[in-house]
Amino acid sequence: MTDVAERLAELRDRGLRRRLRLVEGPQGPRVTLDGRRVLLLCSNNYLGLADHPRVKEAAAEAALRWGAGAGASRLISGNMRPHRRLERRLAAFKGYEAALLFGSGYLANTGTIAALAGRGEGVFSDELNHASIIDGCRLSRAETFVYRHADAEHLAWGLREAGGRGALIVTDGVFSMDGDVAPLAELARLARDHGCRLMVDEAHATGALGPGGRGSVAAAGLSGEVDIVVGTLGKALGSYGAYACANAELSEYLLNAARPFVFSTAPPPPVAAAALAALDLLEAEPRLVERLARNAAALREALVAEGLRPGGAGTQIVPVAVGEASLAMELSERLLEQGVFAQGIRPPTVPEGASRLRLTVMATHEPDELQGAARLVGATARELGLTGAAPPVAPLAA
Ligand SMILES: Cc1ncc(COP(=O)(O)O)c(C=O)c1O
Repeated sequence: MTDVAERLAELRDRGLRRRLRLVEGPQGPRVTLDGRRVLLLCSNNYLGLADHPRVKEAAAEAALRWGAGAGASRLISGNMRPHRRLERRLAAFKGYEAALLFGSGYLANTGTIAALAGRGEGVFSDELNHASIIDGCRLSRAETFVYRHADAEHLAWGLREAGGRGALIVTDGVFSMDGDVAPLAELARLARDHGCRLMVDEAHATGALGPGGRGSVAAAGLSGEVDIVVGTLGKALGSYGAYACANAELSEYLLNAARPFVFSTAPPPPVAAAALAALDLLEAEPRLVERLARNAAALREALVAEGLRPGGAGTQIVPVAVGEASLAMELSERLLEQGVFAQGIRPPTVPEGASRLRLTVMATHEPDELQGAARLVGATARELGLTGAAPPVAPLAA
């Protein structure tokens, strides 16, 4: 047996071996998965824009006009009009002077954090932040203080201990696996008091929270106080890529210092054009955001009626606690057999013992589809002897 085969076997034995499934056709509320029609309850295409005719047309037109790829990094010859247009629109949408595009949210987070903190400085990161933030902290070589989830007092203690070396506080706006919202007002106050920058990742908040879907920072009225807002284009905006919003000076610095921006090919023009069309739709149809919130509430209510206690804070991310990884995957498989595709989430995405079913709703789901799914989740959870309490909040490895 090779060492790799041994590692794969170990992953299998621990219920952690992953495999790809195949979706035919576009990301709608129902998809064909490995040949079967199923209700999709684990896509981040929250507003259904990935399959919107105007978004698809914009991508197709841009491909015809600008080509399929940018051919180089932005700083060489890859800076094209769709990039510039999208950056201006994103900055205006979020209420910032500037926005800078990145190839993905993973790259935006790693690049931005590593550019803003370095050796001898401190980064302060919520224990449930996304892996791309954790990796950004590692790459920065700054000393990382991982504060307890959403615990401003613990963070304040860490900042005091750092004695002025704190460079950056970084948090998810909406936590990707838990669906709750960061205590942004307290974080902003601490950042101000300690002379630190504050960075918020709006991957799951853009298109879902705040006025017109402007995100958790706008919802908290803190656009002027959060130094950097990162967001992805691959979730509610239905395309691919990401952006960092900041003031003009900071943005110019990131353009020079964020390595994934400097050393990576610019996003393809059709991808930027699709995101721009999605942003137009979001601004023209704020009812999409309301519909998403209504659907999230409907699913939560229906799960509660089944005796489950979904976690999160009313957002479109609805976790149902399971515990052991193998049990979470068993629940997910049994639901799939009954036509509901809801992903089981296990380590390393969540801590050991905190595996869960992560249900995500879309604005395009019908309320009766969500109610039917909740009944199946309830019945299947009971078959497996689960109580479905809110997932415990436990730390990930920093
Ligand atoms: C909170 C958060 N940040 C960043 C990312 C990475 O974004 P992307 O998929 O664009 O790389 C994700 C998800 O994938 C996420 O959940």
